[in-house]
Amino acid sequence: MRIAVFGDVMGRSGRNGLLDRLPGLKKKLALDFIIVNVENSAGGFGVTADIVEAFLDAGADALTTGNHAFDQREEIDIYDREERLLRPVNFPASNPGRGSGVFEARNGASVLVVHAQGQIGMHPCDDPFAAVDREIAGAVLGKDMDAIVVDFHAEATSEKCAMGHFLDGRASLVVGTHTHIPTADDQVLPRGTGYITDLGMCGDYDSIIGMEKSEPLRRFITKMNTGRFAPANGEATICGVIVETDPATGLARSIDPIRVDGRLRRA
Ligand code: FE2
Repeated sequence: MRIAVFGDVMGRSGRNGLLDRLPGLKKKLALDFIIVNVENSAGGFGVTADIVEAFLDAGADALTTGNHAFDQREEIDIYDREERLLRPVNFPASNPGRGSGVFEARNGASVLVVHAQGQIGMHPCDDPFAAVDREIAGAVLGKDMDAIVVDFHAEATSEKCAMGHFLDGRASLVVGTHTHIPTADDQVLPRGTGYITDLGMCGDYDSIIGMEKSEPLRRFITKMNTGRFAPANGEATICGVIVETDPATGLARSIDPIRVDGRLRRA
């Protein structure tokens, strides 16, 4: 089966860019299952019910988030209403929503999606390795689940690499998100798990990780937080990966980057 995951949707640029292209990509790439990270889709901070609905209507099967999951405070109840929208599983248990779910792909296959946040350079959360381990403990790939996909939302490349190897042979695909810059290490790990350290964002790359350049530049240079961050709204590059799994084992046969339009080299 063919699964695509698209990286952090950044503001209007990323939102409209991916919403416009998702139905076409789904058809062209014959995608059975689509995951989109939407944590920056509402003006760069969080997600709204309308945006969730738009991505599900456009063909997404599950949506992940991250450290900005609850930024849109008046919209938080969507996490309890919409089970296809996930927040990190290692957030406090009292938080709204859930961090994993089993979904049916277009080909009838079962897909377990687990979403976790890293601990290095992120706000405090529970151990992501123990949390993901618990989530997949009862699900043997190729037996109980046709595919298992983990979105690990983390800052440190080392922590993301460690999660990839921790799950190698037990998950179909482990993707890193959060840094908004795509890495070139997409690979099938030795025991058969597709892996990439970061998908990159869907957004305008003439920016500082998706934000209009002037305010972040000013903060780096003057060390003063005098203005407000605003998403950059030039044409988006759509970034993600596609993995093809072996139906018998659920492991990855191949992984390839997806990079379409905007400023980055096409893949
Ligand atoms: Fe993030």
